[in-house]
Amino acid sequence: RHILAKELPDAQVIVVSNREPYIHNRNGDEIQLVVPASGLVSALEPITRACAGTWIAYGGGSADPLVVDENDRVEVPPENPSYTLRRVWLSEEELQGYYLGFANEGLWPLCHIAFTRPIFRASDWEAYEAVNRKFADTVVAEARNERPIVLVQDYHFALLPRMIRERLPEAIIITFWHIPWPNSEVFSICPWREKILEGLLGSSIVGFHTQFHCNNFIDSVDRFLESRIEREDSAISYGGQISLVHAYPISIEWEPPRLSKLPAVAECRRLIRDKFGFAENVRLCVGVERLDYTKGILDRLNALDELLTLHPEWIGKVAFLQVAAPSRGTLPAYQQLYEECLRHAEDINQRHGREGYTPVVLVTEHHSQAQVYEIYRAADVCMVTSLHDGMNLVAKEFVAAREDEQGVLLLSMFAGASKELLEALIVNPYDAAMMGDALLQALTMSPEEQSQRMRRMREVVRENNVYRWAGSMLFDAARLRKRDAVDRAV
Ligand code: F6P
Repeated sequence: RHILAKELPDAQVIVVSNREPYIHNRNGDEIQLVVPASGLVSALEPITRACAGTWIAYGGGSADPLVVDENDRVEVPPENPSYTLRRVWLSEEELQGYYLGFANEGLWPLCHIAFTRPIFRASDWEAYEAVNRKFADTVVAEARNERPIVLVQDYHFALLPRMIRERLPEAIIITFWHIPWPNSEVFSICPWREKILEGLLGSSIVGFHTQFHCNNFIDSVDRFLESRIEREDSAISYGGQISLVHAYPISIEWEPPRLSKLPAVAECRRLIRDKFGFAENVRLCVGVERLDYTKGILDRLNALDELLTLHPEWIGKVAFLQVAAPSRGTLPAYQQLYEECLRHAEDINQRHGREGYTPVVLVTEHHSQAQVYEIYRAADVCMVTSLHDGMNLVAKEFVAAREDEQGVLLLSMFAGASKELLEALIVNPYDAAMMGDALLQALTMSPEEQSQRMRRMREVVRENNVYRWAGSMLFDAARLRKRDAVDRAV
């Protein structure tokens, strides 16, 4: 807010994402409010609140149409309205082609190295283009003047920046790609690769979590578009537009506001063990995420299996709680993952379980943020073993939840968070032996060592919090606007 007031006075902030920050669902006669399991939402929500902006998103909740005004707007959060949520309605067909099809069967596996074959259908591409246009119309309708700051989120909207640029040439458009960007050879698989790059280069700034993904993006532009690339400044000139390509590691709010309302750590340990049927003295490892094949859920089950097989003395003493929010469940790859997880958990339980001891509890339900934070506080080990991940905010949330400075983070080297949280036990999720060893190291780590590592990680997350993430992008945007003004004056 400070940077906006100082550097970009009177600027209107418009956020665009597919996922809405609050979903209104019908529950009998009541309307139930759900905050979706999404790193993007946890990061953008405090920013939009602080800027009193407008958030444009697909309205997918069964009661969403009931709570909006005649312009499809609703003020949120309900308990303390501080910004406008503008909903965009999509038909089943649009959703199938744009979201499930092109975004999640095409771009998602393309950008994550998880060895799931991307599927590209011409009909999905058409839906993707049409839905991007629909969102562009909504951005233009919501803009109060010619020069809003538009924060475009993620791979659902690769075409949107150029569509907005054509109609609001003076807008500051900051596009943040929340998932990895693959190398140019992998990217070349996409039949519409040039269109995707052209679309993104309508942005003033294209942001990724890591420099590595920025480099991959710049290499892709270099290979497929006639453009001028200034590698030193990370700037690309294309079609008369200059776009900066920078790394902005996303983060969380510090301290998470819900923390002060949670029970103490000792109470959370008791509550969670009780709730999920674990013995009081069992050492608890946890995994929390959407049920997604990029998250390495099966690999962490393998690690537990490895530990219990090689070190049977841990049988009865360690258990694993996996909370996996259902996600994109109509797609075959997700259904298959769900079945494999069930099978694998059952198999481990049969082989290593005993009377009164179930090593793996798998809960495939949505959990509120407060419930998730209780789980973090109850854990001895948090396993973030993504096969590939832009950042992964679960790692940062776990650290933020532990003001007692206890608990060990096992973190995949293929998650962006591993570039910042160096005191985690960094693992290769594909290496079962390494994962098993790391799990053992975590379970036997002294409280003093846990505390040293946790303290350092907490400093990093406190320092590089979500306000810094947004602040650096806005600061760069302000620099661009000033440069534009100078260019216009000469
Ligand atoms: O960051 C990746 C991401 O796809 C976000 O865009 C999204 O909010 C989150 O994961 C959850 O996915 P979905 O919106 O498909 O449930």
